Amino acid sequence: MSFDKTILITGGAGFIGSHLVRLMVNKYPNYRIVNLDKLTYAGNLENLSDIESNDNYSFVKGDIVDEQFIDTLFADYQFDGVIHLAAESHVDRSIEDPMSFIKTNIVGTVNLLNAARKYWTDFSGKRFYHVSTDEVYGSLGETGFFVETTAYDPRSPYSSSKASSDHLVRAYHHTYGLPIVISNCSNNYGPNQFPEKLLPLFIHNIKNEKPLPVYGDGKYTRDWLWVIDHAIAIDLIYEKGRDGETYNIGGNNEWKNIDLINSLCKVMDELLDRPAGSSEQLITYVKDRPGHDRRYAIDASKLMNELGWEPTVFAEEGLRKTAEWYLSNSEWLENVTSGAYQKYYTKQYGE
Ligand code: NAD
Ligand code: TYD
Repeated sequence: MSFDKTILITGGAGFIGSHLVRLMVNKYPNYRIVNLDKLTYAGNLENLSDIESNDNYSFVKGDIVDEQFIDTLFADYQFDGVIHLAAESHVDRSIEDPMSFIKTNIVGTVNLLNAARKYWTDFSGKRFYHVSTDEVYGSLGETGFFVETTAYDPRSPYSSSKASSDHLVRAYHHTYGLPIVISNCSNNYGPNQFPEKLLPLFIHNIKNEKPLPVYGDGKYTRDWLWVIDHAIAIDLIYEKGRDGETYNIGGNNEWKNIDLINSLCKVMDELLDRPAGSSEQLITYVKDRPGHDRRYAIDASKLMNELGWEPTVFAEEGLRKTAEWYLSNSEWLENVTSGAYQKYYTKQYGE
């Protein structure tokens, strides 16, 4: 079969990557989509079982930190584009083990940049897209929003590793002319997220009547973006974004953690048919995360005005859709909470 383009998506078995792979495999039968993933604790091919036998989809298991492997992959597939999502993505893990974040998020990104530079002898029609986070901008006070020109001020090992890789992607653009685009987005939520992040962890715990560990005073603020809205934005930016640019992506959906958790508790009581107030009783204030960023908020007007994107899912509707998905996919939840993850989970929160 011949294809118009071959696109490498890294981290396609993870949370956001799996939604992006599905979207692109279905939307572009003329593109060959190659999903490269190491299948760490966060990668799960179950996320893609519905499209795994499509003719325009291939999966390759491998590590972006392995320079030789990446070089050979580029030689074999002659990619036209790269959408790079593979990363270590959890702030709490980065506090415990920064080095694995340095390796995957920084060295892995440079390996991909070097391979693109080597094999793209002609940059025409090529694009290297780095999927990044709003956490690179640091922490906001009660007011204000991150814009694309906000100075970088990363404060956790995770956000520092993502900031570093953003800088390197831009450096390859300025130094070597590599065609790049970057997006920085807020906290995603929805199906397929590994249950170490706030929402799937709390849904899992409520279901099993376990404590809900709220860090610090619970008044930290995040902007929550429906994951499929994010995948749609990435596709749009990949296809139509301007070369060398950065686009912020946000859900226009800010919540203080404790308000989000209280709303989730109400939704869960209803869905589990438990007396009102049962889930809230599980809330347990615990020691704060070191260096916990107070507030993130995104101004996505550049993306909205230039490319016509807008978020579609907000507030309780998103929480309900998320809770319903995890409750009706309890096998998925059981599978990912057993094995390697279980050891980490037990160390963090006990049995
Ligand atoms: P995730 O942890 O769910 O998935 C990461 C994927 O990368 C997994 O499938 C994992 O197996 C793979 N991976 C990890 N190390 C690898 C390596 N060395 N080689 C190859 N594959 C490897 O992450 P996510 O939440 O889907 O995030 C995807 C991207 O989006 C990341 O770059 C992250 O920084 C960024 N991002 C995430 C959010 C969010 O809220 N989740 C927000 C903004 C930006
Ligand atoms: P998280 O999902 O880890 O995303 P991030 O740190 O990248 O924003 O956390 C979201 C917010 O929820 C953050 O303020 C930390 C807080 N949080 C808790 O209070 N308890 C928890 O068990 C977790 C995982 C997070």
